[in-house]
Amino acid sequence: MTAALVPGSFDPPTNGHLDVIERCTGIFDEVIVAVIKNPSKDPLFDEAERIAMLTELCSEWDTVRIGSFGGLLVDYAKQTGADVIVKGLRAMTDFDYEFQMSQMNRHLSGIVTLFVATKPEYGYLSSSLVKEVSRLGGAVDALVPASVAAAMKERYA
Ligand code: PNS
Repeated sequence: MTAALVPGSFDPPTNGHLDVIERCTGIFDEVIVAVIKNPSKDPLFDEAERIAMLTELCSEWDTVRIGSFGGLLVDYAKQTGADVIVKGLRAMTDFDYEFQMSQMNRHLSGIVTLFVATKPEYGYLSSSLVKEVSRLGGAVDALVPASVAAAMKERYA
């Protein structure tokens, strides 16, 4: 039984996140999506809202469960029994920071990080950009699920 931990801010979840999670369901017996409780940036959606969104969006996959964590990711990995951390990689700009984090997590606990290359059409997609576009009245329907687009529209209204 191999379990993958997919951590993130998920503020909000995008189609890029769901693509990575879906790919993990085809590889791992269990997928634990881990929402960081207090992201460094002031979140648009609080922890409960981000968990609720992901719970609804991942309901079609019965091997996926949603959790949240507040301290070190490696401690949460130990607590949940996750075998590997999985992160999505969009472009070389992601690589430097992601590589540093993977090395630090390996140093702290020995856990391995696997990188999943995102779909090319989501290569430019980030939660921050999606929020900016939505805040300024642009269309985000092709970038996030309909429920997320509606939640952002309501929040920025
Ligand atoms: O979606 P994000 O913002 O790219 O996710 C970043 C996240 C939550 C995965 C990262 O900030 C994280 O793992 N934070 C936990 C704190 C931690 O363990 N830091 C030390 C290891 S680098």
